[in-house]
Amino acid sequence: SEELIKRLEATIENIPDFPIPGIQFKDISPIFLDPKLYEDVIGDLVKFSRGKVDAVCGIESRGYLFGIAVAVALDVPFILIRKKGKLPPPVISEKYDLEYGSAEIETREGQIKKGQKILIHDDLLATGGTTEAAAKLVQKQGADVVQFSFLIGLKDLNGEEKLRKFGADIYSILQY
Ligand code: PRP
Ligand code: MG
Repeated sequence: SEELIKRLEATIENIPDFPIPGIQFKDISPIFLDPKLYEDVIGDLVKFSRGKVDAVCGIESRGYLFGIAVAVALDVPFILIRKKGKLPPPVISEKYDLEYGSAEIETREGQIKKGQKILIHDDLLATGGTTEAAAKLVQKQGADVVQFSFLIGLKDLNGEEKLRKFGADIYSILQY
């Protein structure tokens, strides 16, 4: 809602030139100083997903901050998507390209079930590279990505374009 957007805008801190010159960092940590605001954020994300998904996948690490609470409120399983090498075997992996080099994300084998309708959640949609890889990781386990949700979407980076092909609903509480 308009009101939630205003409160979030007043709370999220914009830090210029972090972590590198030219980037404006959005620091979401002040949200956790305000339990009522946190609760309302979860409520908003839950409203988007209620009755639509069988499980929530959250992307390490900031995707866990809201994703687990959303899954609990929806009464569905939460699955951790982690950076390579953190989860014990057996794991399913997906490689993806970064500006320089590549990265890999993983889930534990068997936690995502075939045919499940999955919400992929993260705090931020920037280039969409991370979320796109997460969606491929989910699909290759025979599940269906039906929704993406974010706190923040950065319009100029066209992340949504990368996600269109999955045919899922996309929701960001805030757009910059
Ligand atoms: C940030 C952010 C998203 C991702 C978005 O995570 O939390 O996960 O980048 O970028 P993209 O859309 O261009 O892929 P980061 O890798 O910094 O790690 P963190 O969540 O552990 O802080
Ligand atoms: Mg992240």
